[in-house]
Amino acid sequence: MIKKGIILAGGMGTRMSPLTKAVNKQLLPIYDKPLIYYPLSILMLAKIRDILIIVNKGQLNQYKKLFPDKKNLGINIEFKEQDKPRGLPDAFILGEKFINNSNTAMILGDNFFYGQNLSKLLTGCAKLKTGAKVVLHSVKNPELFGVAKINNKNKNILKIIEKPKKFISNYAITGLYFFDKKVVNYAKKLKPSKRGELEIIDLINQYKKNKKLSAEFIGRGGAWLDTGSISDYYKTSAFVQAVENRQGFKIACIEEIALLNRWINKKDLKDAISFYGNCEYSSYLKKLI
Ligand code: DAU
Repeated sequence: MIKKGIILAGGMGTRMSPLTKAVNKQLLPIYDKPLIYYPLSILMLAKIRDILIIVNKGQLNQYKKLFPDKKNLGINIEFKEQDKPRGLPDAFILGEKFINNSNTAMILGDNFFYGQNLSKLLTGCAKLKTGAKVVLHSVKNPELFGVAKINNKNKNILKIIEKPKKFISNYAITGLYFFDKKVVNYAKKLKPSKRGELEIIDLINQYKKNKKLSAEFIGRGGAWLDTGSISDYYKTSAFVQAVENRQGFKIACIEEIALLNRWINKKDLKDAISFYGNCEYSSYLKKLI
């Protein structure tokens, strides 16, 4: 089982300025909780308990307010600062010590996943022993993402391209990746692309070249939403609001997931309630007790 996970939550968030001038993008709200709760919940649903959050230089204090040392989620959270956006594979270079020669998952801090059977899919992916696994989802606008061309019969990946100008497939490569321990060495050998960043596609291609790349699919019943622009942000918020208000269940309530995983107990939940104070999120936690 993969036991370690990285959330890449740096970046300048320039597309969302001025909202991101003073606050890290991943701390902005998606409806009733900070965006970072959503990717964190995904790693927790994959039963990953050892987590590294990579943040922008100078923004660590903002995160420490949300995740103070005494906050108990039954997981280990470490932080590392990235001095500038060097590209997604930089996570494995910065995280080398944390990874400590293990297999690791990575999720981008701005990615939102939801759907039935998601937990099963995630724990399945976390069983990866060797190679790399990407998670694909069909989208209308593939030119905005990393894209994979698939052999429809055996579901093998034939080709991957970052933001293709010419159509090759509707399958976007989501920002959730599972890698074996070779990832650190592969990342260290990458050269920056024309735009001056290390590219995740180049990293994944190393595995593809060695026939060690596989794919998992989120089907039509699942949602993978983007929070890259201000309008996407509001659409994702509206989605969460609609689902939560209809069902009465919260999406990405990290304390609820920790409780269901039996990583924390009701006393920890009471501590969380006093941490959050008198708010709607706390009322939800009270109901869990
Ligand atoms: O969302 C999925 C897509 O994410 C994939 O389909 C693409 O293959 C992948 O390259 C990536 O594309 P984006 O254009 O969305 O990447 P972006 O540069 O916006 O970075 C994604 C997140 O990672 C964002 O929250 C900021 C953070 N980030 C990014 C870079 C380059 C960092 O924390 N550090 C970095 O150096």
